[in-house]
Amino acid sequence: MTHQQGLHIGMSLAPTWLSGEGWRRPDSRVESLFGSDFALDIARRSEAAHLDFVFRPDVSCVVADALQSGSGFTSLDPTVLLAALTRETTHIGLVSTVSTTFFPPYLVARQLQSLNWLSNGRVGWNIVTALQGHENFGLPAMPSAEERYARAAEFTDVVQRLWRSFPNQALRIDRDNGVYADPAQVQPIDHQGDFLQVQGPLNLPEQGSRIPLIQAGASDSGRDFAARVADIVFAPTPDQAAAAELRRDLSRRAERHGRNPADIRLLPGLSLFLAPTREQARELFMDTHARVDKARKYAAIEKMIGIDLTNWPSDRRIHAADLPPLQLLPGASRTHVSLLRRLIERESLLPSELLMRPEVLSAAHWQVIGTVDDAVEEIADWAEAGVMDGFIAAPGGSFGSVYCFLDEVVPRLVERGLFRGQYQGATFAEHLQRY
Ligand SMILES: Cc1cc2nc3c(=O)[nH]c(=O)nc-3n(C[C@H](O)[C@H](O)[C@H](O)COP(=O)(O)O)c2cc1C
Repeated sequence: MTHQQGLHIGMSLAPTWLSGEGWRRPDSRVESLFGSDFALDIARRSEAAHLDFVFRPDVSCVVADALQSGSGFTSLDPTVLLAALTRETTHIGLVSTVSTTFFPPYLVARQLQSLNWLSNGRVGWNIVTALQGHENFGLPAMPSAEERYARAAEFTDVVQRLWRSFPNQALRIDRDNGVYADPAQVQPIDHQGDFLQVQGPLNLPEQGSRIPLIQAGASDSGRDFAARVADIVFAPTPDQAAAAELRRDLSRRAERHGRNPADIRLLPGLSLFLAPTREQARELFMDTHARVDKARKYAAIEKMIGIDLTNWPSDRRIHAADLPPLQLLPGASRTHVSLLRRLIERESLLPSELLMRPEVLSAAHWQVIGTVDDAVEEIADWAEAGVMDGFIAAPGGSFGSVYCFLDEVVPRLVERGLFRGQYQGATFAEHLQRY
């Protein structure tokens, strides 16, 4: 399959370049993590490169055992942070992450639609069902994956109905006749469901530009949910085969739900360690992961696939036959469990090799450790193969990777005809159109 369309590119505001040892570099600006300058700088540069959107992931709890050695997911509230970017940018999409497991849907509908007004139609919602944090929201335990996805489906439907409950056309603002709005068009949703009871209507009108939905969970129920609602699937696909399989499956499911498969854009995460030479890039990668906490990684591996590597001989490879039968522990992502099992089924690795793989280090994303040329060739190759519609860039190691990507890789993608050289619209939904 040959790629016919221009790519859609998002930029992580996570900030992935502070992960591992990245924050310890003198130029990391880690002190400014809890302000807006940092995110604003990345958003402005991403806008200058005509990217589709910036993307802020989020977790609603402290991951305490990781805190001593890095910032982890400690962060400002993503929707509040993005509000600070609205008046300082004009085109770039602003994607916030909000969980469907913890918050009331009326609040979520209102906040996202407010942000959509403040940004003139540039908001996207990354829908997560979350893996942790129940103790902060009065829940006795994390609900099962099935229950979380059932709730996510109901929740998303309620939020979208709330947005529609006050249509933009209901605003009349007719000064001559003294008519501000047409209340007949502003109707309750009267929702009584399995998980939620919400009357509505929402107390602000729709902005007028649709809020695109992003979903990141690739288990069976995650895929089915995405195929029903998502404009973008943010996918952990470490290789082309994984992306091709996910894309085929999403297309089948989309058709089953009466949707055009082309309306679901598959955007893998792309972890980028970039430097002037391959050796320097490799060094950047190794330096970033120099202090990998083996005990913590081993515990995570054991939790995911049931293999305890604590006393595993360093020269003994881990084979598919070592894998115990699949058993999902609470808090484990089925997506990541299956990717890790798949890796071990395909390759026999030493424990030290396993620790450095993206499936263990960085949420199983596609990874380029190399030069600008390497990144451009790799992206062109995936685009040629037609296995994705773009990607979400997650530069790693240092700001060098961020600048290298935005200032050097993106212009080369434009030259190759793979990416836009100008914005054709000013809203997020417009950027997502085929071009
Ligand atoms: C690539 C990727 C990114 C994710 N990002 C977040 C996030 O920012 N916040 C969050 O709470 N959960 C996040 N999740 C977790 C998902 O929302 C979901 O709860 C989890 O993957 C379980 O669903 P699954 O069984 O379909 O994988 C992410 C998952 C994936 C695969």
